[in-house]
Amino acid sequence: MPATIVIGAQWGDEGKGSTVDRLAATADIVARFGGGDNAGHTINIGQDVFKLHLVPSGILREQVKCILGNGMVVNPLKLLEELDMLAKLGVDISPERIFISTRAHIITPAHRALDAAREQSLGDRAIGTTLRGIGPAYNDKTARRGIRAGQMSDVESFAEALAHAITEANHTLIRHQITPLDPEKDAQAYVDAAERLRPYLRDTTLYINEQLKAGAQVVCEGAQGALLDVDHGSYPYVTSSSTTTGGALSGLGFGPKYVAHVVGVAKCFSTRVGGGPMPTELDGVLADRLRGTGENFWDEFGTTTGRTRRCGWLDAVMLRYSSQINGFTDVVLTKMDILSGLDEVKIAVAYEVDGERYEFPPATIEQVERAVPIYETLPGWQDDISKVRRAEDLPAAARAYIQRVTDLCDAPVNRISVGPERDQLIHL
Ligand code: GDP
Ligand code: IMO
Ligand code: MG
Repeated sequence: MPATIVIGAQWGDEGKGSTVDRLAATADIVARFGGGDNAGHTINIGQDVFKLHLVPSGILREQVKCILGNGMVVNPLKLLEELDMLAKLGVDISPERIFISTRAHIITPAHRALDAAREQSLGDRAIGTTLRGIGPAYNDKTARRGIRAGQMSDVESFAEALAHAITEANHTLIRHQITPLDPEKDAQAYVDAAERLRPYLRDTTLYINEQLKAGAQVVCEGAQGALLDVDHGSYPYVTSSSTTTGGALSGLGFGPKYVAHVVGVAKCFSTRVGGGPMPTELDGVLADRLRGTGENFWDEFGTTTGRTRRCGWLDAVMLRYSSQINGFTDVVLTKMDILSGLDEVKIAVAYEVDGERYEFPPATIEQVERAVPIYETLPGWQDDISKVRRAEDLPAAARAYIQRVTDLCDAPVNRISVGPERDQLIHL
């Protein structure tokens, strides 16, 4: 049973990129199944820091073939930018090892403009999207008027479809008093990109099934996190795709008989970018302390939009829920090095909402907004653990923290990371 599904267990940025890169050491295929360039997956190899948005995080392992699955929404310009960046660094980006599903959907310039227009019109109820056109692209997909990647193989019809999409979007943009796009000019760069991307197109559903049947090791790379899932997240403050285990199967087109592991990647504290409830959110010195060494992708993003990552203690109510809806068989707890040096650490083990205790998040977003976390306080540890490689060398307090997380989320934490480098991983 050769497929391993990797899922962000919280609100994204849990360390999926580095986890997938580590798992890819023994993989044949790494396949992204959802989202688009709203994702930012970081891989650290020595002095080099790779920030991937669309290309799967297996690309840095020579033997791995990479799939951009049918569940994804792909901006052709951003993909080419990323491929060019990788090529400059000496990475093999040939169409013999990277395949784009003909069934994936295209993010057009119209989608990006509409994302911005809708966010603007929401005012202080804005979702805080990444403005990459994700919502409008999935919108068009489910409304059965999207453009699929396969259409890039016919330049004329692709150009026509883009011009039509832009003309349609212009009605909305004009209504929002936003300068309309030029259907010919704004489409041209996409048409040029299509020329270059054509060799990468493939029926990836057929390919992945053939490979799985033949016993290939496949890592399915999640994007965003379970709490941003369009069905299971804090709707409407979510992304527009299925970020959970079910999304992996529909976003790649294979059945559950091949799934061996579902790996939840959880950060040992909470972070969230954008709007929506976050019961354990902290502010002030402690939040800054947890923000720690920083996740550059979002730091940079914050500097252009004025947003910073929200930080708080680990929320075991959300993690338990995430474990339940995904069926985690394994949990990787990341960034344990960041908690070193604190006198005590806290975990939210339940919520109190309107006088009632909740072990799982209550059903409505209004209730989650009113949730008061019930914390358990554990002793902290002072030693720098970033150089520890064996479980028995961890401070007792760190081991106790890990055990408590296992108990609370009803899935075994069997790996922790103590830094972003490939070898900063401890098997428990
Ligand atoms: P992703 O979206 O889930 O792939 O996560 P991001 O790449 O957006 O954010 C995770 C950040 O944490 C990146 O900057 C990683 O390099 C970093 N990171 C991952 N694991 C660890 C860890 O164990 N310790 C520390 N200090 N940083 C980590
Ligand atoms: P990775 O894969 C963190 C958040 C946005 C916003 C909401 C909707 O790196 O973990 P969208 O642009 O998708 O319509 O935005 O989802 N969001 C992420 N937050 N990490 C991500 O990806 C995210 N992708 C989307 O901040 O709140
Ligand atoms: Mg990220």
